Amino acid sequence: MNTAICRVESGKIDTEIIQRAGKIISEGGLVAFPTETVYGLGGDAFNPESSRKIYAAKGRPSDNPLIVHICREEDLAKLVCEVPEKAQKLMEAFWPGPLTLIMNKKEEVPLETTGGLNTVAVRLPSDEVARAFIQAAGGYVAAPSANISGRPSPTCGKYVKQDMDGRIDMILYGDDSNIGLESTIVDMTGDVPMILRPGYITKSMIEEVIGVIEMDQTILDDNSKAVPKAPGMKYRHYAPKGQLVVVEGESSSVIEYINTQVIKDRAEGYKTGVISTSRNIPMYKAELILDAGDLEKQQEIAHRLFTILRTFDDENVDRIYSESFADDGLGTAVMNRLLKAAGHNVVVI
Ligand code: TXA
Ligand code: MG
Repeated sequence: MNTAICRVESGKIDTEIIQRAGKIISEGGLVAFPTETVYGLGGDAFNPESSRKIYAAKGRPSDNPLIVHICREEDLAKLVCEVPEKAQKLMEAFWPGPLTLIMNKKEEVPLETTGGLNTVAVRLPSDEVARAFIQAAGGYVAAPSANISGRPSPTCGKYVKQDMDGRIDMILYGDDSNIGLESTIVDMTGDVPMILRPGYITKSMIEEVIGVIEMDQTILDDNSKAVPKAPGMKYRHYAPKGQLVVVEGESSSVIEYINTQVIKDRAEGYKTGVISTSRNIPMYKAELILDAGDLEKQQEIAHRLFTILRTFDDENVDRIYSESFADDGLGTAVMNRLLKAAGHNVVVI
Protein backbone atom coordinates (compact mmCIF):
# COMPACT_ATOMS: atom_id res chain seq x y z
CA MET A 1 0.00 0.00 0.00
CA ASN A 2 1.21 3.50 -0.81
CA THR A 3 1.21 5.68 2.33
CA ALA A 4 0.75 9.43 1.76
CA ILE A 5 3.02 11.34 4.14
CA CYS A 6 1.66 14.82 4.75
CA ARG A 7 3.36 17.45 6.85
CA VAL A 8 1.02 19.30 9.26
CA GLU A 9 1.82 22.05 11.72
CA SER A 10 -0.26 23.19 14.65
CA GLY A 11 -0.80 26.91 14.37
CA LYS A 12 -1.24 26.77 10.60
CA ILE A 13 -3.34 23.75 9.87
CA ASP A 14 -3.70 22.93 6.18
CA THR A 15 -7.43 22.34 5.87
CA GLU A 16 -7.12 20.66 2.48
CA ILE A 17 -4.88 17.94 3.97
CA ILE A 18 -7.11 17.54 7.03
CA GLN A 19 -10.19 17.15 4.82
CA ARG A 20 -8.40 14.52 2.76
CA ALA A 21 -7.46 12.65 5.95
CA GLY A 22 -11.06 12.85 7.20
CA LYS A 23 -12.36 11.45 3.91
CA ILE A 24 -9.99 8.48 4.14
CA ILE A 25 -11.46 7.64 7.58
CA SER A 26 -15.07 7.99 6.35
CA GLU A 27 -14.25 5.62 3.49
CA GLY A 28 -12.90 2.98 5.88
CA GLY A 29 -9.17 3.76 5.60
CA LEU A 30 -6.50 4.40 8.24
CA VAL A 31 -4.63 7.61 9.10
CA ALA A 32 -1.91 8.14 11.72
CA PHE A 33 -2.10 11.49 13.50
CA PRO A 34 -0.29 13.46 16.22
CA THR A 35 -1.72 13.94 19.71
CA GLU A 36 -0.27 15.56 22.82
CA THR A 37 0.53 12.13 24.31
CA VAL A 38 1.79 9.92 21.46
CA TYR A 39 0.81 9.46 17.78
CA GLY A 40 -2.42 7.55 17.15
CA LEU A 41 -3.43 5.17 14.36
CA GLY A 42 -6.97 6.17 13.50
CA GLY A 43 -9.96 4.51 11.87
CA ASP A 44 -13.73 5.09 11.97
CA ALA A 45 -14.85 3.93 15.45
CA PHE A 46 -18.29 2.93 14.14
CA ASN A 47 -16.93 0.85 11.28
CA PRO A 48 -16.01 -2.71 12.41
CA GLU A 49 -13.96 -3.22 9.25
CA SER A 50 -11.80 -0.19 10.12
CA SER A 51 -11.09 -1.62 13.56
CA ARG A 52 -10.10 -4.94 11.98
CA LYS A 53 -7.71 -3.07 9.71
CA ILE A 54 -6.16 -1.30 12.71
CA TYR A 55 -5.43 -4.62 14.42
CA ALA A 56 -3.91 -5.96 11.22
CA ALA A 57 -1.73 -2.88 10.60
CA LYS A 58 -0.35 -3.00 14.15
CA GLY A 59 -0.11 -6.77 14.38
CA ARG A 60 -2.15 -6.40 17.56
CA PRO A 61 -4.28 -9.09 19.22
CA SER A 62 -7.94 -8.26 18.61
CA ASP A 63 -8.93 -8.73 22.28
CA ASN A 64 -7.12 -5.49 23.03
CA PRO A 65 -9.68 -2.66 22.88
CA LEU A 66 -9.15 0.68 21.14
CA ILE A 67 -9.64 4.16 22.57
CA VAL A 68 -12.34 6.22 20.82
CA HIS A 69 -11.20 9.81 20.27
CA ILE A 70 -13.75 12.61 20.08
CA CYS A 71 -13.36 16.36 19.53
CA ARG A 72 -16.34 17.74 21.47
CA GLU A 73 -17.65 16.69 24.86
CA GLU A 74 -21.26 16.47 23.65
CA ASP A 75 -20.29 13.74 21.19
CA LEU A 76 -19.85 11.37 24.14
CA ALA A 77 -23.63 10.84 24.16
CA LYS A 78 -23.46 8.59 21.08
CA LEU A 79 -20.91 6.30 22.75
CA VAL A 80 -21.98 5.74 26.35
CA CYS A 81 -25.23 4.89 28.12
CA GLU A 82 -24.75 7.34 30.95
CA VAL A 83 -22.01 9.57 32.25
CA PRO A 84 -21.33 8.93 35.95
CA GLU A 85 -21.13 12.09 38.06
CA LYS A 86 -17.48 11.55 38.86
CA ALA A 87 -16.67 11.11 35.18
CA GLN A 88 -18.38 14.42 34.48
CA LYS A 89 -16.19 16.11 37.08
CA LEU A 90 -13.01 14.60 35.62
CA MET A 91 -14.00 15.72 32.15
CA GLU A 92 -14.53 19.25 33.41
CA ALA A 93 -11.13 19.21 35.10
CA PHE A 94 -8.96 17.47 32.50
CA TRP A 95 -10.62 17.49 29.06
CA PRO A 96 -9.39 18.24 26.53
CA GLY A 97 -6.23 16.44 27.59
CA PRO A 98 -4.35 13.22 28.36
CA LEU A 99 -7.11 11.42 30.26
CA THR A 100 -9.08 8.41 28.95
CA LEU A 101 -12.31 7.40 30.70
CA ILE A 102 -13.92 3.97 30.51
CA MET A 103 -17.71 3.82 30.68
CA ASN A 104 -20.47 1.41 29.69
CA LYS A 105 -20.90 1.50 25.93
CA LYS A 106 -24.02 1.96 23.85
CA GLU A 107 -24.97 -1.02 21.75
CA GLU A 108 -24.15 0.85 18.53
CA VAL A 109 -20.44 0.92 19.36
CA PRO A 110 -19.03 -2.14 17.55
CA LEU A 111 -17.51 -4.91 19.67
CA GLU A 112 -14.65 -4.96 17.15
CA THR A 113 -13.68 -1.51 18.45
CA THR A 114 -13.95 -2.44 22.14
CA GLY A 115 -12.18 -5.79 21.86
CA GLY A 116 -15.42 -7.60 22.69
CA LEU A 117 -16.05 -5.62 25.90
CA ASN A 118 -19.29 -3.88 26.88
CA THR A 119 -17.34 -0.84 27.96
CA VAL A 120 -15.69 1.82 25.83
CA ALA A 121 -12.60 3.97 26.46
CA VAL A 122 -13.04 7.62 25.40
CA ARG A 123 -10.57 10.47 25.11
CA LEU A 124 -10.82 14.09 24.00
CA PRO A 125 -7.28 15.13 23.06
CA SER A 126 -6.05 18.71 23.36
CA ASP A 127 -3.79 18.64 20.32
CA GLU A 128 -5.13 21.03 17.68
CA VAL A 129 -4.26 18.89 14.67
CA ALA A 130 -5.82 15.84 16.33
CA ARG A 131 -9.06 17.68 16.97
CA ALA A 132 -9.32 19.16 13.48
CA PHE A 133 -8.71 15.68 12.05
CA ILE A 134 -11.28 13.98 14.31
CA GLN A 135 -13.86 16.57 13.30
CA ALA A 136 -13.11 16.10 9.59
CA ALA A 137 -13.39 12.33 10.11
CA GLY A 138 -16.95 12.57 11.42
CA GLY A 139 -16.23 12.89 15.13
CA TYR A 140 -15.35 9.33 16.23
CA VAL A 141 -11.84 8.04 15.63
CA ALA A 142 -10.76 4.72 17.17
CA ALA A 143 -7.03 4.89 17.71
CA PRO A 144 -4.37 2.91 19.48
CA SER A 145 -0.81 4.20 19.54
CA ALA A 146 0.66 4.19 16.01
CA ASN A 147 3.39 1.61 16.65
CA ILE A 148 3.78 -2.00 15.61
CA SER A 149 2.44 -4.00 18.57
CA GLY A 150 5.08 -4.46 21.27
CA ARG A 151 7.30 -1.55 20.19
CA PRO A 152 7.53 1.77 22.08
CA SER A 153 4.70 4.19 21.22
CA PRO A 154 5.82 6.77 18.63
CA THR A 155 6.37 10.30 19.89
CA CYS A 156 7.37 11.79 16.54
CA GLY A 157 6.54 11.45 12.85
CA LYS A 158 9.81 9.70 12.09
CA TYR A 159 8.92 6.72 14.27
CA VAL A 160 5.38 6.51 12.88
CA LYS A 161 6.89 6.33 9.41
CA GLN A 162 9.34 3.67 10.56
CA ASP A 163 6.48 1.41 11.76
CA MET A 164 3.54 2.29 9.50
CA ASP A 165 4.88 3.24 6.06
CA GLY A 166 3.24 0.90 3.55
CA ARG A 167 0.63 -0.36 6.05
CA ILE A 168 -1.84 2.55 6.20
CA ASP A 169 -3.29 5.19 3.86
CA MET A 170 -1.85 8.37 5.33
CA ILE A 171 0.44 9.77 8.00
CA LEU A 172 -0.25 13.28 9.29
CA TYR A 173 3.38 14.08 10.03
CA GLY A 174 3.21 16.78 12.71
CA ASP A 175 5.27 18.03 15.61
CA ASP A 176 6.77 15.83 18.31
CA SER A 177 4.30 14.84 21.03
CA ASN A 178 4.45 17.22 23.96
CA ILE A 179 3.98 14.69 26.73
CA GLY A 180 5.54 11.59 25.22
CA LEU A 181 3.67 8.97 27.31
CA GLU A 182 0.17 7.64 26.66
CA SER A 183 -2.89 8.99 28.47
CA THR A 184 -3.92 8.05 31.99
CA ILE A 185 -6.77 5.51 31.78
CA VAL A 186 -9.44 5.50 34.48
CA ASP A 187 -12.21 2.92 34.68
CA MET A 188 -15.38 4.74 35.78
CA THR A 189 -17.69 1.70 35.74
CA GLY A 190 -17.18 0.52 39.33
CA ASP A 191 -18.22 2.14 42.63
CA VAL A 192 -14.67 3.36 43.14
CA PRO A 193 -12.91 4.54 39.95
CA MET A 194 -9.65 2.77 39.19
CA ILE A 195 -6.52 3.82 37.31
CA LEU A 196 -5.74 1.08 34.78
CA ARG A 197 -2.77 2.85 33.19
CA PRO A 198 -0.84 5.71 34.86
CA GLY A 199 -0.02 8.80 32.81
CA TYR A 200 0.48 12.52 32.89
CA ILE A 201 -2.70 13.06 34.95
CA THR A 202 -1.58 11.55 38.25
CA LYS A 203 -3.53 9.76 40.99
CA SER A 204 -3.31 12.76 43.31
CA MET A 205 -4.51 15.16 40.58
CA ILE A 206 -7.56 12.94 40.11
CA GLU A 207 -8.17 12.50 43.84
CA GLU A 208 -8.23 16.27 44.26
CA VAL A 209 -11.28 16.34 42.00
CA ILE A 210 -13.27 13.20 42.94
CA GLY A 211 -11.77 11.85 46.17
CA VAL A 212 -10.18 8.47 46.74
CA ILE A 213 -9.64 6.16 43.78
CA GLU A 214 -7.88 2.84 43.32
CA MET A 215 -4.90 1.87 41.22
CA ASP A 216 -4.70 -1.45 39.39
CA GLN A 217 -2.16 -3.34 41.49
CA THR A 218 -0.42 -4.80 38.47
CA ILE A 219 0.85 -1.36 37.36
CA LEU A 220 4.21 -1.59 39.08
CA ASP A 221 4.10 -5.04 40.61
CA ASP A 222 4.71 -7.87 38.21
CA ASN A 223 4.57 -10.45 41.01
CA SER A 224 0.96 -9.76 41.80
CA LYS A 225 -1.15 -12.72 40.71
CA ALA A 226 -3.82 -10.44 39.28
CA VAL A 227 -4.41 -9.92 35.56
CA PRO A 228 -4.35 -6.25 34.49
CA LYS A 229 -7.82 -4.83 33.92
CA ALA A 230 -6.78 -3.01 30.73
CA PRO A 231 -6.25 -5.92 28.35
CA GLY A 232 -3.35 -4.12 26.64
CA MET A 233 -1.37 -3.89 29.87
CA LYS A 234 -0.79 -7.63 30.02
CA TYR A 235 1.40 -7.71 26.94
CA ARG A 236 5.15 -7.16 27.00
CA HIS A 237 5.30 -3.73 25.58
CA TYR A 238 7.47 -0.77 24.77
CA ALA A 239 10.31 -3.20 24.44
CA PRO A 240 13.55 -2.28 22.68
CA LYS A 241 15.17 -5.07 20.67
CA GLY A 242 18.17 -5.24 23.01
CA GLN A 243 17.97 -6.75 26.48
CA LEU A 244 17.06 -4.09 29.05
CA VAL A 245 17.82 -4.32 32.77
CA VAL A 246 16.73 -1.74 35.36
CA VAL A 247 19.26 -1.31 38.16
CA GLU A 248 17.99 -0.06 41.52
CA GLY A 249 20.04 1.09 44.47
CA GLU A 250 22.26 3.82 45.81
CA SER A 251 23.68 5.92 42.96
CA SER A 252 27.39 5.04 43.23
CA SER A 253 26.66 1.30 43.55
CA VAL A 254 24.37 1.46 40.52
CA ILE A 255 27.09 3.13 38.46
CA GLU A 256 29.69 0.60 39.60
CA TYR A 257 27.41 -2.37 38.87
CA ILE A 258 26.48 -1.09 35.41
CA ASN A 259 30.10 -0.38 34.46
CA THR A 260 31.17 -3.88 35.53
CA GLN A 261 28.37 -5.41 33.42
CA VAL A 262 29.24 -3.19 30.47
CA ILE A 263 32.87 -4.32 30.50
CA LYS A 264 31.80 -7.98 30.64
CA ASP A 265 29.25 -7.54 27.85
CA ARG A 266 31.73 -5.75 25.65
CA ALA A 267 34.27 -8.54 26.11
CA GLU A 268 31.59 -10.89 24.80
CA GLY A 269 31.11 -8.73 21.72
CA TYR A 270 27.85 -6.99 22.69
CA LYS A 271 27.13 -3.34 21.99
CA THR A 272 26.15 -1.68 25.28
CA GLY A 273 23.95 1.24 26.28
CA VAL A 274 22.91 3.10 29.43
CA ILE A 275 19.88 5.21 30.34
CA SER A 276 21.34 7.74 32.74
CA THR A 277 20.16 10.80 34.62
CA SER A 278 21.92 13.93 33.36
CA ARG A 279 24.39 14.30 36.18
CA ASN A 280 25.67 10.70 35.97
CA ILE A 281 26.38 10.75 32.22
CA PRO A 282 30.19 11.22 32.58
CA MET A 283 30.40 8.26 34.96
CA TYR A 284 29.47 5.51 32.48
CA LYS A 285 31.64 3.46 30.16
CA ALA A 286 29.04 2.15 27.69
CA GLU A 287 29.11 2.81 23.94
CA LEU A 288 25.81 4.70 23.89
CA ILE A 289 24.79 6.68 26.98
CA LEU A 290 21.46 8.44 26.67
CA ASP A 291 20.35 11.30 28.85
CA ALA A 292 16.96 10.78 30.52
CA GLY A 293 17.06 14.24 32.10
CA ASP A 294 17.27 15.51 35.65
CA LEU A 295 16.02 13.17 38.35
CA GLU A 296 13.88 16.00 39.73
CA LYS A 297 12.27 16.79 36.36
CA GLN A 298 9.79 13.97 35.89
CA GLN A 299 8.19 15.59 32.86
CA GLU A 300 11.52 15.63 31.09
CA ILE A 301 12.12 11.94 31.78
CA ALA A 302 8.57 11.07 30.64
CA HIS A 303 9.07 13.09 27.47
CA ARG A 304 12.34 11.37 26.55
CA LEU A 305 11.75 7.75 27.53
CA PHE A 306 10.21 6.32 24.35
CA THR A 307 12.62 8.20 22.09
CA ILE A 308 15.49 6.78 24.13
CA LEU A 309 14.17 3.22 23.80
CA ARG A 310 13.80 3.65 20.03
CA THR A 311 17.28 5.16 19.70
CA PHE A 312 18.82 2.00 21.15
CA ASP A 313 17.05 0.07 18.38
CA ASP A 314 18.26 2.51 15.71
CA GLU A 315 21.82 2.03 16.97
CA ASN A 316 21.50 -1.77 17.31
CA VAL A 317 22.44 -1.83 20.99
CA ASP A 318 22.35 -5.38 22.45
CA ARG A 319 22.57 -4.79 26.20
CA ILE A 320 20.93 -1.80 27.86
CA TYR A 321 21.09 -0.81 31.54
CA SER A 322 18.85 1.82 33.05
CA GLU A 323 18.97 3.72 36.28
CA SER A 324 15.71 3.54 38.23
CA PHE A 325 13.60 6.67 38.74
CA ALA A 326 11.24 7.89 41.46
CA ASP A 327 7.87 6.15 41.16
CA ASP A 328 5.63 8.83 42.66
CA GLY A 329 3.51 11.34 40.71
CA LEU A 330 4.30 11.22 37.01
CA GLY A 331 7.13 8.84 37.97
CA THR A 332 4.54 6.07 38.37
CA ALA A 333 3.87 6.25 34.62
CA VAL A 334 7.57 6.42 33.79
CA MET A 335 8.43 3.39 35.93
CA ASN A 336 5.39 1.47 34.65
CA ARG A 337 6.61 1.87 31.04
CA LEU A 338 10.29 1.30 31.89
CA LEU A 339 9.61 -1.89 33.88
CA LYS A 340 7.42 -3.23 31.09
CA ALA A 341 10.11 -2.42 28.54
CA ALA A 342 12.52 -4.41 30.70
CA GLY A 343 10.07 -7.30 31.06
CA HIS A 344 10.39 -6.58 34.82
CA ASN A 345 14.05 -7.50 34.68
CA VAL A 346 15.26 -5.56 37.75
CA VAL A 347 18.52 -5.88 39.66
CA VAL A 348 18.45 -4.47 43.19
CA ILE A 349 21.87 -3.81 44.67
O1 TXA B 1 -2.54 8.55 24.82
C1 TXA B 1 -3.18 7.58 24.41
O2 TXA B 1 -4.05 7.02 25.09
C2 TXA B 1 -2.86 7.09 22.99
C3 TXA B 1 -3.23 8.21 22.00
C4 TXA B 1 -3.12 7.78 20.57
O3 TXA B 1 -4.50 8.68 22.31
N1 TXA B 1 -3.55 5.87 22.71
C5 TXA B 1 -3.20 4.67 23.23
O4 TXA B 1 -3.95 3.60 22.80
O5 TXA B 1 -2.28 4.55 24.02
P1 TXA B 1 -3.51 2.08 22.98
O6 TXA B 1 -4.49 1.31 22.20
O7 TXA B 1 -2.09 1.92 22.60
O8 TXA B 1 -3.73 1.78 24.48
C6 TXA B 1 -5.05 1.69 24.97
C7 TXA B 1 -5.10 0.91 26.25
C8 TXA B 1 -4.85 -0.58 26.06
O9 TXA B 1 -4.06 -1.05 27.13
C9 TXA B 1 -6.27 -1.16 26.14
O10 TXA B 1 -6.28 -2.48 26.61
C10 TXA B 1 -6.95 -0.20 27.12
O11 TXA B 1 -6.42 1.05 26.77
N2 TXA B 1 -8.41 -0.16 26.94
C11 TXA B 1 -9.10 0.36 25.90
N3 TXA B 1 -10.42 0.20 26.06
C12 TXA B 1 -10.59 -0.43 27.24
C13 TXA B 1 -11.73 -0.91 27.97
N4 TXA B 1 -12.97 -0.76 27.50
N5 TXA B 1 -11.51 -1.52 29.15
C14 TXA B 1 -10.26 -1.68 29.65
N6 TXA B 1 -9.14 -1.25 28.99
C15 TXA B 1 -9.30 -0.66 27.82
MG1 MG C 1 -0.17 1.29 22.62
